[in-house]
Amino acid sequence: MKKITVIGAGNVGATVANVIAQRDLAREIILVDIKEGVAEGKALDIWQTSSINHFNTRVIGVTNDYLRTKGSGVVVITSGIPRKPGMSRDDLIRTNASIVKDVVEKVIKYSPEAIIIIVSNPLDVMTYTAYLAARKDSRKVFGMAGILDTGRYRAFVADALNVSPKDVSALLLGSHGDTMVPLPRYTSVAGIPLPELLNSEEIERIVLRTRNGGGELVNLMGTSAWYAPGAAAAQMVEAIVDDQNRIFPVCTLLNGEYGLKDIYLGVPVKLGANGIEEIIELNLNKDEMRMLHESADSVRDVMKTLDDMHLFDEK
Ligand code: LAC
Repeated sequence: MKKITVIGAGNVGATVANVIAQRDLAREIILVDIKEGVAEGKALDIWQTSSINHFNTRVIGVTNDYLRTKGSGVVVITSGIPRKPGMSRDDLIRTNASIVKDVVEKVIKYSPEAIIIIVSNPLDVMTYTAYLAARKDSRKVFGMAGILDTGRYRAFVADALNVSPKDVSALLLGSHGDTMVPLPRYTSVAGIPLPELLNSEEIERIVLRTRNGGGELVNLMGTSAWYAPGAAAAQMVEAIVDDQNRIFPVCTLLNGEYGLKDIYLGVPVKLGANGIEEIIELNLNKDEMRMLHESADSVRDVMKTLDDMHLFDEK
């Protein structure tokens, strides 16, 4: 791909840019930030690893210069403030919704064809905000959370069984929040269903730790995580750039799937060159379906705050 843009040169944005560069996924990465010098500095630092890590992708940092992002094929948006200890992702909405709207409008002005991946929190509602601001096909506007959450879940399963995380395959549904729905029935280790390997208490412990996975890190570091979120977003970019048709849980606009409508929520999709190529509907049991709908309810609660902000009222 010719050009990929990453908006926000904080920890997550810089990590996304770094992983994309190391995988040589584009001729050029434009890293954008609002703070003078930050994107320029981090981009230069990443670019100076090119001869050591053997990649060609040119990494360029700019301050608020959206003209430089013109013609991007994929844009990853990480803008907004991160969580501090004691905050939920939902506490961020008032600040981050205005930022995400503003950024998406500028991105679309210069790259109307771009596929947009949202990483800002609260993820599900920020992805919806981006969709409203972008006014384009929802298959090209979606959010990263499921790969991160399953990444955590798979790491915990690998730890519990002392196996390679490469052999752990898993799915997870719902919001990027406390109500996310890890699916042990759809988790396997080298093809062996998880319930054959761990008892229900052990699985429950892993599910709970996964739900609180972001919070665990905020408490340890005083701010939110970046290595796993960055790697997860980069994996989505790779699936698009290489047209891989990989199946990932992705925060997607639902239009009747799973009995849900007009809401962005994590479900399995096929991700390829056109963005979301297909939404996959699982044959959920009653319990799983109930948990997914509870998760949708919690997202709708946060959406009320977005509505109250009247960001998208016609003037
Ligand atoms: C996390 C933040 C990025 O889950 O939402 O770590």
